[in-house]
Amino acid sequence: MAAAVSDRIATLSAGGGLVFGCDYNPEQWDRSVWPEDVRLMQQAGVGLVAINIFGWSSINPSRGVWDFSALDEIIGLLHAAGIRINLGTGTASPAPWLTAAHPEILPVGEDGTVFHPGGRQAYCPSSPIFRDYAAEVVTRVVERYGDHPAVSLWHVSNELGCHNALCYCTTSAAAFRGWLRERYDDDLDALNRAWGTTFWSQRYSSFDDIDVPAQALSLRNPGQILDFHRFSSDEQLALYRAEAAILRERSDVPVTTNFMVTAHIRNLDYWTWAGDMDVIANDHYLDRRLDDPRGELSFAADLTRGLAGGAPWLLMETSTGAVNWQPYNLAKAPGELRRNIAAHVARGADGICFFQWRASTQGAEKYHTALVPHAGEDSDQWREVVELGGLLDRLGEVAGTRVEADAAVLFSWESWWAIENEGRPSEGVTYLGQLHAAHAALSDAGITTDVVRPGADLDGYRLIVVPALHLITDDEAAVIARAVENGAVALITFQSGIVDEQDRVRTGGYPGAFRDLLGIRSEEFAPLVPGQTVALTDGSTASVWSERFKTTDAEVVAAFADGPAAGGPALTRRTAGAGEAWFLATQPSRDDYRALIARLAETAGVAPIPGATREIEIVRRSNGTDSYLFVINHGDSDAEISLVGHDLVTDAPATGLVPAGAVRIIKEDV
Ligand code: GAL
Repeated sequence: MAAAVSDRIATLSAGGGLVFGCDYNPEQWDRSVWPEDVRLMQQAGVGLVAINIFGWSSINPSRGVWDFSALDEIIGLLHAAGIRINLGTGTASPAPWLTAAHPEILPVGEDGTVFHPGGRQAYCPSSPIFRDYAAEVVTRVVERYGDHPAVSLWHVSNELGCHNALCYCTTSAAAFRGWLRERYDDDLDALNRAWGTTFWSQRYSSFDDIDVPAQALSLRNPGQILDFHRFSSDEQLALYRAEAAILRERSDVPVTTNFMVTAHIRNLDYWTWAGDMDVIANDHYLDRRLDDPRGELSFAADLTRGLAGGAPWLLMETSTGAVNWQPYNLAKAPGELRRNIAAHVARGADGICFFQWRASTQGAEKYHTALVPHAGEDSDQWREVVELGGLLDRLGEVAGTRVEADAAVLFSWESWWAIENEGRPSEGVTYLGQLHAAHAALSDAGITTDVVRPGADLDGYRLIVVPALHLITDDEAAVIARAVENGAVALITFQSGIVDEQDRVRTGGYPGAFRDLLGIRSEEFAPLVPGQTVALTDGSTASVWSERFKTTDAEVVAAFADGPAAGGPALTRRTAGAGEAWFLATQPSRDDYRALIARLAETAGVAPIPGATREIEIVRRSNGTDSYLFVINHGDSDAEISLVGHDLVTDAPATGLVPAGAVRIIKEDV
């Protein structure tokens, strides 16, 4: 199980401590480069190297032909240098001979477009043909290397579902029908009820008539779309499970795959995947398309820790500088790489790996930065990498410590799918937008936060934030109500608790699942248009949303002073048992949201970390004996913070000065 092995991420590389690793694609280089690569890896302190990720066409160049000579050699070189291997199963992208022989495995988009090979991941996830050939590749690889002493982690495929999560081909449609029969226990009436198919004459009289929700003339059936998302996530998980089973039968080495907990990928419900991973591993790149890329990084890192059940996790991929897949691929600012890495470690990463080792000179990713840049060893980037290796080495003692949080944010992929389903009240309400706003408010207020799944045990959290949790089951809602009864303070925001697990609106007044807990009854949504702001009677400003509701058993803390819900409540509080349930019907400005969180934290008895602000990110990791304070100054001015202990960055006693852009990691005197 994840937690047990995650505690031992340090064992994945020979040095112990924090893992420093990378993806390595030696097949892109002449053999003469390999010894040089290994020498430089040793110089930088790289201890874990992922290989054979895209190895299929190298090890199995044509049908029935296998050639492991290059892989043998590279594994031998790495092993001799004491570098451990994160061995890819090699199935991330089918070799061209396979798609040429079986074009029926190619994935199909919602408009019927067949996606041709030439990129990567060009296969239908449900294709039995693909699955059979992939199983053979995995079997060959594990039989050859399963006992190799350098292999310390299995890397199944690569970012499963990154491109092909949703496939609309006939094979997928048949698999979808099979999945639906299972979900609804072969009961077609149950499916018809769940999807509300009496609407627009969509009632099915046979499972055989059901198709995937491909492009249609009008809005499609939201229940069908929601189930298609569930099915698609399960199909990708099935790919993982099939490979993991082959590996586990023949090898004791831990198995994982790299998650994509990030802003632009939403098709995999990792809550349902996490239990299958021996180590939780995530890929994360700064997304410059967002307003607050580093805020997103912090949220993603906290969510990854949530997937690991609070245990340490592995950052499987990130970049030293620019990526090549955004419209504007910005270089990192001076010190930004270190700040990013410190934020990941602060939030529970026990290993930092990069994509990739040496910058490619060919192929679609030749302008993606790497540990060894095109400029080579004599470059500022390489010197920064060596320096980073040194820092990770000094931070070794942090490994295994945990982040402790008194606050929790609830997050759900199912809610993400549901709230952004077709025919919604406002396109301005994005699920991540609401999550990021809440998380930023907590972070700005100095409150360290776990990100947990609805239904998770909330004992031990005194402050619980539930942003836009649109879809929720009765049982999950009951857990929140119980936590409040037991003394927690919960902030539930607009659009939470609106639909049940089938995306059916809960009637009798919004938000159906939380109406009683909150003591409110809402009759009408009144979303705001882009750029529109409203004033609240407590002096705060808000945007995105408002709604017309009344209190039934709650106190109005602030009302809308203007806008479509003027005069009505905007923020309410209800005392319930030993706790309080608050409802927020809009999105306050960042500062106002922070102030609200600070107030709730005080009520809940959750102490902020002193010195934390919007610009100064501070998180503590500890293990009961030792305690490490991560202080990251993202701002333009120097900060003075009270710090007592030894600074592992400067390897000197801590001073209170945290210069602009600097990172301080203090082993605290306790
Ligand atoms: C990931 C992927 C890597 C590489 C990287 C570039 O999505 O796993 O293979 O493509 O992005 O940022």
